[in-house]
Amino acid sequence: MRVTINQVKEMKQKGEKIAMLTAYDYTTAKVIDEAGIPLILVGDSLGMVVLGYESTIPVTIEDMLHHTKAVVRGTKRAMVVADMPFMTYHISLPEALKNATRFIQEGGAQAVKLEGGVTVADKVRKLVECGIPVMGHIGLTPQSIHQFGGHKIQGKTPEAAGRLLEDAKALEEAGAFSIVLETVPTPLSALITQKISIPTIGIGAGIGCDGQVQVINDILGSFTDFVPKHAKQYAKIADIMSSAIAEYFSEVKSGKFPTDQQSFSMDESLLAKLTK
Ligand code: KIV
Repeated sequence: MRVTINQVKEMKQKGEKIAMLTAYDYTTAKVIDEAGIPLILVGDSLGMVVLGYESTIPVTIEDMLHHTKAVVRGTKRAMVVADMPFMTYHISLPEALKNATRFIQEGGAQAVKLEGGVTVADKVRKLVECGIPVMGHIGLTPQSIHQFGGHKIQGKTPEAAGRLLEDAKALEEAGAFSIVLETVPTPLSALITQKISIPTIGIGAGIGCDGQVQVINDILGSFTDFVPKHAKQYAKIADIMSSAIAEYFSEVKSGKFPTDQQSFSMDESLLAKLTK
């Protein structure tokens, strides 16, 4: 039985911290699921850490569906939340509904995430009314990076802080089951967390949130283009990969690999018949 939205909401009520990680493929999702992480996000950070784009903006619904299906196949217990890509939920309510449906019906996800607060609350309400659980995402919303003019901390003026609180309340009121707060000062995210009944999941939003989400490649140290300030590297996988690849390269060149252990034998007399 997979983790449900009610269980996620109960975790806030019980004061139990919520851990969430991104995944984009079967193998990684399986390891995360087996570690007991209750929520897996197929983030559109896929664009940067898997597909090599500079931002999340070029990511398409087909890209996201392809990876969502792989993550769902790799998981048994975690709730899989799929990110709706740029402009797949803004244009109209029917389009938002049609695209969200694809993630649930074709992709096999249990929920979708979309960026924005007051401006997308009508879409959130419609999806929830139709039975699609929605995770909100406010603060530094990467799909609006050109509007923000870079990766800037959000909510730093009283007006901006007030708007973020309004966004959080609008999402709660529209029926979202949780909200990602990205790159928000710690005291402000703690205040938002106190003021709403649904869980807040922070990324660069400090310890006062109900939970935390990180990009798997950041915490494993496998993405080396940049290390965001909010990420802690629990491993340096890129270094381990580099030395393993270098060793393989040198063993192929020197004839040390493969040995009999990685090879298959056959009856030599059969070979002798062939060479007659
Ligand atoms: O795309 C993503 O990985 C995200 C997280 C950073 C929250 O939206």
